[in-house]
Amino acid sequence: MSNIVLSYLQAEALLERRQAGETRAAVSPDLGLTEREVSIEPDGAHFPDGQILTWEALETISASLRVCFLVIEGAVRKIQVFSEATDRLYSLMPTQGAPTMLVSGIPMHRIKGIDPHQDTLRKIKTIAPIKGYVLDTATGLGYTAIQAAKSADRVVTIELDPAALEIAGLNPWSQGLFENPKITQIVGDSCEQIKNLGDGAFARIIHDPPAFSLAGDLYSAEFYGELFRVLGRGGRLFHYIGDLESKSGRVVARGAMRRLGEAGFSRVVRRPEAFGLVAYK
Ligand SMILES: C[S@@+](CC[C@H](N)C(=O)[O-])C[C@H]1O[C@@H](n2cnc3c(N)ncnc32)[C@H](O)[C@@H]1O
Repeated sequence: MSNIVLSYLQAEALLERRQAGETRAAVSPDLGLTEREVSIEPDGAHFPDGQILTWEALETISASLRVCFLVIEGAVRKIQVFSEATDRLYSLMPTQGAPTMLVSGIPMHRIKGIDPHQDTLRKIKTIAPIKGYVLDTATGLGYTAIQAAKSADRVVTIELDPAALEIAGLNPWSQGLFENPKITQIVGDSCEQIKNLGDGAFARIIHDPPAFSLAGDLYSAEFYGELFRVLGRGGRLFHYIGDLESKSGRVVARGAMRRLGEAGFSRVVRRPEAFGLVAYK
């Protein structure tokens, strides 16, 4: 029985169909990736795999705008994990497109006027063509790793918090992270794990850390020195910062540009469309 993952978007659509007196409805069991036909019965929505989701459960889902739900044998549970390792709450938050992950209430992708998938494409495009070995310093939901693996020879991706990977494991949009043999996952702190990686080993680096206030080490001169060391000659680094036009984005970008230059990068350019910087070696 494959996982059914639903958000308020699918729940609302089912409730509306029932209200309209329909007997069947097309619904996505994986947050918009595919569709299944369910039958609308008095006790709930009957999925093709035999699971029955009660109208009460669908009401609960439709009232929760900031978390997705996993359906197991007709019961629903929030896709939300409290991390003992970092004392933070991780949850899978729906959008009209790919879901994002909330870490203590902060979305890990852009969701205003853009969805996480488009956000990912913009990040990746700044260092196109993606080729050779790619280092992804912050796995999260794995979107950048999955996208990079489409053209890279290999992607090494590092995630500090097993809770984030637990959320990714339940996210239909993250399955490539676990299925693509080109992707190697490392669980640990990028600041430590990067020391085990070879000089010049990567042609591209995607550095997509949480906000400066949550993960200052990932913006430090010492870490930038390690990024420079593991990048090969002619390599490129994308560094997500946040809105470069905002006050905090301007301040963080200025400091990051200075430290990247000091670390040895020959050129650092602002890429406002991707909310980040690109550094060249
Ligand atoms: C903005 S998200 C990354 C999003 C990801 N690139 C994607 O496409 O889904 C940042 C991630 O970095 C992780 N993280 C925070 N500190 C870290 C560290 N020191 N080393 C590795 N990962 C870290 C967080 O747990 C979070 O999952």
